[in-house]
Amino acid sequence: MQNIERYVIWNNKGGVGKSTITFHAATRYAELNPDKKVLVIDLCPQANSSMMLLGGGTVGEQHVLNLCTLATPRTVVGYLSTVIANGAGASLPDPLNYLAQINSVNPTIPENLLLLCGDGNLEPMAPAVTGAANAPSLTPTMQPWKWVHQIFREMIASVASKFPENDVTVFIDTNPSFAIYTELAISAGDKLIVPVNADDSSRVATNALFILLHGQTPPHPIYGSWTYAAKAASFGMIVPQIHVIVGNRLTQYEGAAGAFSALSDATADTLYHAYCSTPTYFTNRGISPTNIHDFRETYSVALRDFNTAGVVAAHLGRPLSQLSGGYHPVHGHSIQVNSERVAECQRAVDSLIRMI
Ligand SMILES: Nc1ncnc2c1ncn2[C@@H]1O[C@H](COP(=O)(O)OP(=O)(O)OP(=O)(O)O)[C@@H](O)[C@H]1O
Ligand SMILES: [Mg+2]
Repeated sequence: MQNIERYVIWNNKGGVGKSTITFHAATRYAELNPDKKVLVIDLCPQANSSMMLLGGGTVGEQHVLNLCTLATPRTVVGYLSTVIANGAGASLPDPLNYLAQINSVNPTIPENLLLLCGDGNLEPMAPAVTGAANAPSLTPTMQPWKWVHQIFREMIASVASKFPENDVTVFIDTNPSFAIYTELAISAGDKLIVPVNADDSSRVATNALFILLHGQTPPHPIYGSWTYAAKAASFGMIVPQIHVIVGNRLTQYEGAAGAFSALSDATADTLYHAYCSTPTYFTNRGISPTNIHDFRETYSVALRDFNTAGVVAAHLGRPLSQLSGGYHPVHGHSIQVNSERVAECQRAVDSLIRMI
């Protein structure tokens, strides 16, 4: 039977590495699983992971722009606006008409990787999406909020139906704000990949993440019923579980704060407490950690600082496996990449892939 895995790369904190991880994880996963279809849905209006997939730098930027400016954009906006305009109950548009042709513009990306491109117009479009979700329910069976929130979940099923012979793995990139399009991204996923940094604001963000997904205890007497958590629960919708926390070591945290483990002690503490009180907030990994050490081993992985290799890979839109040592052009400069550093980054991405 066809298997569909849905991962959302999310943290409500900006700049922690969501798009970078989406790019490297999705491309590497596709390379290692040529028999599967790998779909990236870019639900961040910044479209950073789309730019990398479509060639990186100004090349990727131009390709994203080309897709966004088509009369019916071949992007998340094109798909979302078509489905909403057609209305609930209408048959779904052919999803393949909305996917970007990555391989023709960036041949370093494996052919089994599909992209629903990000689109800056997701931002101005958000009020219309919210309006559609909050439309009154004219009949008891109409549930506009649920219907709109499940548009990308349904789209994934629709893509999978086009490839009945292949398993499908989906990576969804998100924006840090909990905007309606982030709610749609969360609603489309089953498992969360949560990048964190080793600083204190990552610990604070982790607390907020549980509140956004599951609500505050006790709920606020007025605002408590307005939340995504309350509405998703009232419609019996799946709320994704944390699958892996990626301790992303950005350069500025290397050194003292780097601390040689994937998570800072404070963030690990917060997450382990959440795990102890509600294990179902996390995916079932077959073993139930009973101490913080085992919890870290089970649910977290460190991603080393990619340094120059990461900058060049993102700029050229090239998976690490396709990045050779030597000099590469970046913004008019010739940047030297050391092939041993690339191999180290590759091994780090592979250790994340093993957790997926
Ligand atoms: N492991 C890493 N090593 C070095 N640099 C990294 C690493 N991960 C991310 N970066 C860099 O950090 C910056 C932020 O990363 P990225 O854009 O992926 O974060 P994000 O969480 O998607 O941000 P946003 O919240 O704005 O969408 C980028 O310049 C990226 O190249
Ligand atoms: Mg991003």
